Amino acid sequence: MKHVGAAQPHESARGHVTGEAKYVDDLWMRAHRAVHLWPVTVPHAHARLVALDTAAASAAPGVSCVLTAADVSGVNDVGPVRRDEPLFPSTVSFHGQPVAWVVAETEEQARRAAALVETRCEPLPAILSIPEAIAAQSFCFGPEHLARGDARAALDRCPERLAGEIGVGGQEHFYLETQAALAWVDEAGLMMIHSSTQHPSETQEIVARVLGVPRHEVIVQCTRMGGGFGGKETQASSWAALAALAARKLGRPARVRLSRAQDMTFTGKRHPFLGRFQVGFDRTGQLLALVLDLYSDGGYSLDLSAPVLFRAMFHADNCYRIDDMLVTGSVCRTHNVSHTAFRGFGGPQGMFMIEDIIDRVARHLGLPPHEVRRRNFYRAGDCSHYGQPIRDADRIERIWSELGASSEFDARWQDIERYNAENGLSKRGLAITPVKFGISFTTSHYNQAGALVLIYRDGSVQVNHGGTEMGQGLHTKVWQIAADALGLPLEAVRVMPTRTDKVPNTSATAASSGSDLNGAAVLAACETLTARLAGVAARHFQVDAESIVFEAGLVYPAGQQRVAVPFAALVEKAYEQTIPLFASGYYRTPDLSFDKATGTGKPFHYFAYGAAVSEVEVDGFTGMYTLRRVDILHDVGRSLSPLVDRGQVEGGFIQGVGWLTSEELTWNEHGALTSRGASTYKLPSLGDCPPVFNVALLERADEPGVVRGSKAVGEPPLMLALSVREALRAAIAAFGCDAPGRGGPRLVELGSPATPERVYWAIEAVRRHHLEAGKLPSTPLT
Ligand code: MTE
Ligand code: HPA
Ligand code: MOS
Repeated sequence: MKHVGAAQPHESARGHVTGEAKYVDDLWMRAHRAVHLWPVTVPHAHARLVALDTAAASAAPGVSCVLTAADVSGVNDVGPVRRDEPLFPSTVSFHGQPVAWVVAETEEQARRAAALVETRCEPLPAILSIPEAIAAQSFCFGPEHLARGDARAALDRCPERLAGEIGVGGQEHFYLETQAALAWVDEAGLMMIHSSTQHPSETQEIVARVLGVPRHEVIVQCTRMGGGFGGKETQASSWAALAALAARKLGRPARVRLSRAQDMTFTGKRHPFLGRFQVGFDRTGQLLALVLDLYSDGGYSLDLSAPVLFRAMFHADNCYRIDDMLVTGSVCRTHNVSHTAFRGFGGPQGMFMIEDIIDRVARHLGLPPHEVRRRNFYRAGDCSHYGQPIRDADRIERIWSELGASSEFDARWQDIERYNAENGLSKRGLAITPVKFGISFTTSHYNQAGALVLIYRDGSVQVNHGGTEMGQGLHTKVWQIAADALGLPLEAVRVMPTRTDKVPNTSATAASSGSDLNGAAVLAACETLTARLAGVAARHFQVDAESIVFEAGLVYPAGQQRVAVPFAALVEKAYEQTIPLFASGYYRTPDLSFDKATGTGKPFHYFAYGAAVSEVEVDGFTGMYTLRRVDILHDVGRSLSPLVDRGQVEGGFIQGVGWLTSEELTWNEHGALTSRGASTYKLPSLGDCPPVFNVALLERADEPGVVRGSKAVGEPPLMLALSVREALRAAIAAFGCDAPGRGGPRLVELGSPATPERVYWAIEAVRRHHLEAGKLPSTPLT
């Protein structure tokens, strides 16, 4: 293979940096006489909308109309899973929710007129946090259970036990391109939508539902997204439906694009979680029993909260075998925006809990956390707590030891102990954490994909598939797969913009499975075509079809390159012999099953693994810290595209660092989001990247049963960032002991995100603890 595995730059790399790559909102200027939409919002977290007066706004300059529920000829609901998201609500369910949309000649006119719409509301009591929801028993899903053994009985038998509560915050997607859609009725009378969506088929479904037309009346195209990160898996459809309503009503192109503050206010984020645990273990740090109750903040509607919760529950073991385990999960209904998919899809929150718990266990026993982690790894022959065999469990140990060696973990551990003994005012921390991430949609039937490959008579090729490009490099990988499968140079192949009229009923590009599913579907289509063409070539060369080679734009019998004919010539011959030159391809992931009633099965096709070592330095006066060095070893199987995969590992890791350290969502007492832009929400920037950042992909790691031996890479590296949080805890712990050999504090409680303020207060807690313990922090405290 020539292209697969080569360090091919991203197919739009040049366009991304020059600005030539087109996004949805680059198109409206070319759409003749487009109208613009602006929302009318209500400043209550929960209220009944008793009156909506649009008269003044409708008469304002430039205004074409004000869209309300009266304009919906289909169903006034955009809920992707449950019908619980009215597009034009009569009850306001989160602070700043739009209730109507002004349509005008310019965005500015729409904005001004929106201020003239009069809304009258009766405020209702609002639930704004997980604890409030638990107190009010306000849930939209669950409780669900995953159980192995009898965890409660096992706990009673454990020599050591700890209990506690762990909270973890949400995260804003902050895709650079905010939500956007452009709609018009085309020359054939079809509703044509350009949407920044990870799920064109669902956007099509919802537009058709709102308009009240069959889906064949609606075409959705996504050329590319300026980032999705899960935020456009379900939550891109409202804007498309609004644009479609305006376009149909006015017979003109209609544009919706959210400002950053609107996007942050209207769209869901990573779910905040609360975990309550009881863990039992022995004095060597072997985990024996875990009871974990997980609560997520689902916001006002269900959206994807159920599968997000399940993925959190599936990942509460991370890489660790715990014989008796009971994980219970519930989704809280609150009056927040509806939280949604975000890279890792609950997995990060589940893993956060167990990594936090392991650090507690280790410090309680006075053992190095990395030793407790390693002691608990799954081994060959083990099953997860939901009964899936961990077929390649030895890979965890392999990655751990290879990374331990390449990062010089042991020597640096010693160096850091010395540094910390010599420095009272700043301390360093080092931590290594593993990742095991299940690959497949946990909704099993989503694990299918289709493709349509067209060969033209000049030998050039168009590849259509159901996946969307959001910067992750899916189109690059598909391009490489298709070119190799047809034996063509990359220039001969074009990956087309994703459209619902090329491949129907597609799944979201999500669950990191974009290349596994769509890559395999494209490969299947290409193989159908080469089989047909090989027949033509075999007749031409008077040889067996099996011996025909397609390579570098030539076709020849194996070993007889000198008689080769150009691909285009063979294609022309095939055309003359009335052989069809286009084919569809289809792939479904084999052997998936999960029984919700028993909580057991094989929800994942395989696991992706990795580990990271992070080193931080923390200032004891301020809690400020720097990330000094990161070493990552990540398993992508046999890489389809090493540059793309490296970008995913680096980007995923840094996005995880943002979630765990700096990105803090804040709401005021009325439930209004107050972190509504980059000035109040601290994203990681180039300066936050570690000066030493060693990223390696695991070698000799071919994955059987996945396209070209590869593994999914999109989400798993995000969870490698847990090493940064654990390194911070190690550094904080060091403030609680004043000499080497003395034990540290027996608990480091650190809120999340670990902002300098939180780190500072955690340092204060261990310092106080240290003083109160008579400077003998290793003495067991009861
Ligand atoms: N990388 C970039 N640059 N932009 C994105 O929006 N989304 C992530 C990941 N990597 C994302 C990204 C998420 S949430 C997923 S599920 C996968 O990409 C989806 O793409 P894939 O399945 O093709 O890996
Ligand atoms: N990941 C992402 N999206 C999903 C999943 C999943 O596991 N299940 C359903 N939608
Ligand atoms: Mo990714 S959260 O599965 O879109």
